[in-house]
Amino acid sequence: MKKRRHSWVDVGDDEPPRKRKYKSSRLDSHPIKKKVKRPDSAEGSGKPKTSSIQEQRNQLPIAHGKDALVRELQENDVTVLVGETGSGKTTQVPQYILESGISGRGMIAVTQPRKVAATSLATRVAQEQNVSVGGLVGYSVRFDEASSQNTRIKYVTDGMLIRELLSDPLLSRYSVVVIDEAHERTLRTDLLLANLKTIQKTRNSYTGGKKGKEPASKQNPLKIVVMSATLDADKFSRFFGNAKILYVQGRQHPVTVYHTANSQPDYVDAALRTFFQIHTDQPPGDVLIFLPGQEDIENLDKSIKLYADRLPKDAPGVAVYPMYAALPAHKQAAIFSSAPQGMRKCILATNIAETSITIPGIKYVIDTGKCKEKRYISRDTGSGFDTLLTKDITQSSAMQRTGRAGREGPGFCFRLYTEEAFSAMPLSAEPEILRCTLTSSILQLKCLNQDLETLDFMDKPDTESVGSALATLYLLGAIDDTKALTKLGRDMAFLPLEPPLARALMASVEFACTLEVLNIVSVLSASSKLFIDTTESRETAAEARRKFRHPSGDHLTVLNIVKSYEEMHKSQGKSGRKEWCKKQLLNERCLLEAVDIKKQLSTSCERLGIDWKVSCGEAEYPILKSLLRGLVHQAAFLQPDGSYKQIMGPSTVKIHPGSSLCDKKVPAIIYDELVYTTHIYARGVSSVPRSFIAEVSVLNRRRSG
Ligand code: CDP
Ligand code: MG
Repeated sequence: MKKRRHSWVDVGDDEPPRKRKYKSSRLDSHPIKKKVKRPDSAEGSGKPKTSSIQEQRNQLPIAHGKDALVRELQENDVTVLVGETGSGKTTQVPQYILESGISGRGMIAVTQPRKVAATSLATRVAQEQNVSVGGLVGYSVRFDEASSQNTRIKYVTDGMLIRELLSDPLLSRYSVVVIDEAHERTLRTDLLLANLKTIQKTRNSYTGGKKGKEPASKQNPLKIVVMSATLDADKFSRFFGNAKILYVQGRQHPVTVYHTANSQPDYVDAALRTFFQIHTDQPPGDVLIFLPGQEDIENLDKSIKLYADRLPKDAPGVAVYPMYAALPAHKQAAIFSSAPQGMRKCILATNIAETSITIPGIKYVIDTGKCKEKRYISRDTGSGFDTLLTKDITQSSAMQRTGRAGREGPGFCFRLYTEEAFSAMPLSAEPEILRCTLTSSILQLKCLNQDLETLDFMDKPDTESVGSALATLYLLGAIDDTKALTKLGRDMAFLPLEPPLARALMASVEFACTLEVLNIVSVLSASSKLFIDTTESRETAAEARRKFRHPSGDHLTVLNIVKSYEEMHKSQGKSGRKEWCKKQLLNERCLLEAVDIKKQLSTSCERLGIDWKVSCGEAEYPILKSLLRGLVHQAAFLQPDGSYKQIMGPSTVKIHPGSSLCDKKVPAIIYDELVYTTHIYARGVSSVPRSFIAEVSVLNRRRSG
């Protein structure tokens, strides 16, 4: 760097910081006040070389070790493969397995913790194979699938593969299962690893077969490949009886790391200023900014565009691309293409760009040091549910983020936190199984006749969270008082929904309002929120949505919106619908996703013999009763002081200011989730008669007695 106006500390390559060179200047000048210099070359951002897709394949670090790798995969039942992000593990290994015949007649499953990674990788590998996605190469994620009888390589979310266990407990369709991104240690990855270990024992064992005459099970052996981007391979290897560990020789250019001199509480603003400092002062090269979540990404996206518009006419432009889990598929592809001529590409991503997805051309990384983490809030202190919290990343994540800048040449990483903050970060993340709700997993295990307590896990979950998940399942009627799975529980597990929503949908059959509940749970299952709610826009939004408002609260308000939207769908064109959503401050993406989810769920309903078209018309009580069956553990009674006391839990909650009931006092409420800010707020709230809650309690007592 020629000029350093930042307060960054140079700590050299991708290494823990040692040197301390503080600069006194602060990052407080307004970005657009600065004189804009043109980048040295008018060429714009560092574009990926335009070599053919096959040349690109052959140039990947993993290609050099291909023969040795294939040999090891042939010889070992379990292999642990470690390699730098971008070395070609995820895209190449499945193709090597297929091309070398290791997978025989079976399929290859490649698991991903995130939906967006599974679909985009399948698209890429299909391209490399010169086929269209859904043929030889396919994917399967919740609410979306592209595969056929010809599919041999299938990218799946780990959750979907667990779902497949329900219908095929030995995963007999697969001859190879690749567990990718294993270092993330998601709850589902851990569940899969535990199951795969057992499955492999069954499928690969000789059960008393005579010499030369192998039993049927051995004719369909299973190979397991565990892939990780970090050097934590030992634990995986030990778990699989000291499995062979292979390292892919990486190719990483030096990255200069800077820390801020002071902490930056407003990390979005700090990222904005840092971006424009890079843009105005630094040579061409794309920028990747790591942010915790969609909301921050959308805000920064807007701000960057706003300031970019005000840059002098002769200054190079900025092309901004967001990347997060809920991004619609057609927008994902854009981030892999180069920016328009003369423009600097700026990608705003969550930790998805840490290891799952390699974006070419990145020279500068801005790391806010934050991510969102699912965490279980224990019943003693709160809800007894998972909440997404924004928190500091780990050192391992910080290194991964830094590494993204050095893929194609020397790069720079600007950390928006101090060197001390880096040192204080935990080395790596705690496995999810130790910090998340186990309700859904236990239910799925019950369907497989397994118990969490008896499975062989890499890390055993603690008894409190197992107990609380069992209690919830009991309340929902999914298990009985001997902890045995009920028929209802089995049906609930069949629906690709969180157990509370699955319970509500099952209850809608009893109350003859399936169509209505289906519409509501589809919106609640979408990955983005329906209401565009910021503190500033709250009043305008409430005003705009007044006509949809239902006196009983948010769930029926959602239903009114879905109904209007469906009518709009028929009568108006695409732009009309967009305009309509904009006017009411509704997030159309959520509604579009809900339409897809509803389609999928209605198929699941049909397979369970449920007529999903049954409607209760304008009646509201059947709907509320159904929802209450699922949200019974998320109910609260009004207190004299106007707050609400949880029925199942010690906390006192307030109704979220964004709720249609926020200024009402109703005797009892149910809610979708709790949000922790200055208070504990209940969000997605409906008012229910107290007598309904009493009814459910009686039912539960009767079941247990
Ligand atoms: O799994 P790993 O991080 O080792 O690498 P990979 O995901 O197999 O990526 C290998 C190469 O494929 C990278 O250089 C990516 O740029 C490229 N790739 C791509 O162009 N488009 C995708 N959707 C995925 C990967
Ligand atoms: Mg990968």
